[in-house]
Amino acid sequence: MCGIVGYIGTQKASPILINGLIRLEYRGYDSAGISTIEKDGLSVMKDQGRVKNLYNLKGIDNLEGTIGIAHTRWATHGKPSQINSHPHMDNSKTFSVVHNGIIENYNELRDFLNNNGYTFYSQTDTEVIPNLVHYYYKKETNKDELAFLRAVKNACSDLKGSFAIEIICKDFPNNMIVVRKDSPLVIGKNEEENYISSDIPAILSFTRNFYFLNDLEYAFLSRTDVKFYDSELNAIHKETKNIEWDAASSEKDGYEDFMLKEIYEQPTAIRETIGARLSENTKCEFEELNFSKEYLQSINKIYIVACGTAMHAGLVAKHTLEKLCKISTEVDIASEFRYRDPLIDEKTLCIFISQSGETADTIAALKLSKQKGAKTIAISNVIGSSITREADYSIYTHAGPEIAVASTKAYTSQVILLTILAIYFAETLEMTQIDIDTLKKDILQLPKKVEDTLKISENIKEFAKKVYQEKDVFFLGRGIDETVAKEGSLKLKEISYIHSESYAAGELKHGPIALIEKGVTVIGIMTDKKLIEKTISNIQEVITRGAKTLIITNQNIDDKMFDEVFHIPFTNIFLSPILSIIPLQLFSYYISKEKGLDVDKPRNLAKSVTVE
Ligand code: M6R
Repeated sequence: MCGIVGYIGTQKASPILINGLIRLEYRGYDSAGISTIEKDGLSVMKDQGRVKNLYNLKGIDNLEGTIGIAHTRWATHGKPSQINSHPHMDNSKTFSVVHNGIIENYNELRDFLNNNGYTFYSQTDTEVIPNLVHYYYKKETNKDELAFLRAVKNACSDLKGSFAIEIICKDFPNNMIVVRKDSPLVIGKNEEENYISSDIPAILSFTRNFYFLNDLEYAFLSRTDVKFYDSELNAIHKETKNIEWDAASSEKDGYEDFMLKEIYEQPTAIRETIGARLSENTKCEFEELNFSKEYLQSINKIYIVACGTAMHAGLVAKHTLEKLCKISTEVDIASEFRYRDPLIDEKTLCIFISQSGETADTIAALKLSKQKGAKTIAISNVIGSSITREADYSIYTHAGPEIAVASTKAYTSQVILLTILAIYFAETLEMTQIDIDTLKKDILQLPKKVEDTLKISENIKEFAKKVYQEKDVFFLGRGIDETVAKEGSLKLKEISYIHSESYAAGELKHGPIALIEKGVTVIGIMTDKKLIEKTISNIQEVITRGAKTLIITNQNIDDKMFDEVFHIPFTNIFLSPILSIIPLQLFSYYISKEKGLDVDKPRNLAKSVTVE
């Protein structure tokens, strides 16, 4: 999705802005641009293509301004092109704006501005913003700081949709205004300079102190100061939050790609996420929730709502919550949940999972659940992210920044956190059906087993070399293994562009088996002892029809039946998805590398999906 960077300080802004955009490249984009305040007014330099192309633009080296805004665009309204790239200026070249999000009523605003003498040069929704600000600014008699702020506020009051906006004005060479609604934006504070960004890692090497804006709060920045205002322009006070993430962990650290680095960071991410919440002889701790037995007994249903990989973590958690706590749990895709009028009341607990904490559909689903009276918990990897500011309760995975578009360490951290949450509920409810003490011991041993799995998973590279030219791959599993099949399949299609499908193994013969023919690759995940014979029968059905098979298992099986068997360490069934996904993450990674693709930035995808 689009990325935003801003700088106001004492150094030359343009290299800082371009470097910031490079750090946001992983979000996905098709064009880039910057705007600075120069001695003779506003400068805008932008182009279609990679951020580094900006270095080739004529005159970019001559920019001296110490205030600037920058943007990577992921086309929504209007094709990728120089003219549609941000920043956009108003007709009089007084204001320059970058915008992340979607202005839903831009057609209406365009008509209004056209009727008031404004002309539009791009096909974007964004171009209405600088012109609307100008329209209101013109009406101000005293062109002071407040006039600038009021003009931005009046324009934003007319906007419907989502936005994170940075705006500079040639009349105020020492200031910048930023505002957000349903779209991410953070402000990093230093002594004589301030940084703005769509997310924390891009500016983490400059500062650890961050301000977070709520919806429709305005920040008026100078070099040394940031003033905050609410939606009615009443002054408000904000404190910075200290972010402890290690700046080095947003660098590649010697790995070829972020995805590979993040796969190998999983033991640490899981260890950090377990943290002090769980130990062998004491009850699990969730001080943030502090739920009583009576409250948990009153819950009629748990909904877990998320998108993509985060939703797959929810599918694992459904198994765990239902078995440990005996509470009916439904998992929903956020973009469906919000439009299907779900049956929610004050006895429903809704859990929303989002690594970034900025996924538009998941946030909207959370807001809907709150309106309907449910208690809401957000699970995120990013402190201060939008979803955590909306939810009644927030709990965090501690995976560190995840840069690669394909989610790996965030997924396994989400699964472990949700497992511990299920234990916390079960202990509070005094449930006894499942051996929780053994599960706790198994959790504490898990980081070591993840390390072991990573060591042996390197061998999957050879199998990847054999199948990287395939057109179709099927993933099969039963029970909790089916959730891993889903995640394995998503990972493969996402970064290798190979068509893949996942099925509950028993469902195959009800239709999809018609697609199995000689040479098709079928991957079976088998870690549930109770179901293994059944899954083996289903795999035999595809072998008979000529499929090539790879099995991921922690059980004793007859390896000779299959083309390739990958033995992973044995663990508790509730934790097995964390180990069985690892060879599949690496399988997708090596296929993508074999095909020479951009692993970290797959085509058409964005890290953080901030539009609906
Ligand atoms: O930031 P979120 O966890 O809300 O993101 C949800 C999905 O967009 C994300 O998991 C996506 O499916 C990943 N790219 C998959 O690897």
